[in-house]
Amino acid sequence: MKLVFATNNLNKLSEIQSLVPEEIEILSLKDIDCNEELPETKFTLEGNALDKATYVFENYGYNCFADDTGLEIDALNGEPGVYSARYAGENSVAEDNMTLVLQKLEGITQRTCIFRTVIALVIDGNITLFEGSCSGVIKETRSGVKGFGYDPIFMPIGFKKTFAEMSQNEKGSISHRGKAVKKLVEFLDSI
Ligand code: IMP
Repeated sequence: MKLVFATNNLNKLSEIQSLVPEEIEILSLKDIDCNEELPETKFTLEGNALDKATYVFENYGYNCFADDTGLEIDALNGEPGVYSARYAGENSVAEDNMTLVLQKLEGITQRTCIFRTVIALVIDGNITLFEGSCSGVIKETRSGVKGFGYDPIFMPIGFKKTFAEMSQNEKGSISHRGKAVKKLVEFLDSI
């Protein structure tokens, strides 16, 4: 089976490729000659994931899935949430976003948070949603160089290291995206 994963994020693509069985061939947006920035204008993870997957299915004709992820920090009333990619401003990069989170949490000891991923799958026009989450705490400083995004400051509950200090396989076995992908693969096996 061929499925497009609607992302331009090479880290996500690599994570997903390591999580799905070989029978499912994952195509990137580049593989289908889609060089556009996909719409991400909704106020929910579900809405954004659905928009991206539907856009590719309708405009390129491929069965497709897309994800949207948010980091919800309890002491910040769930921020950055659906705005995680652009928390420090429209053109912000991961470093800026982490710096802002660390600034906002300065002096705060209650640092619990949750990463939430929603995957929207469109097969022959039929839509299915899958969700995965991972609870953790925001560290006071960055640790590790692997992964991407907020990984250097996110320490999953039950671990003494951040996502950025884990191998891709270790992160995938406990992460929000890993759990959502597991549900996606189980669903694909069942149809
Ligand atoms: P997206 O909209 O799903 O691409 O992700 C929103 C933001 O969350 C981006 O800034 C990503 O870097 C960040 N993000 C998504 N997944 C992860 C992850 O697994 N670890 C750390 N940051 C992530």
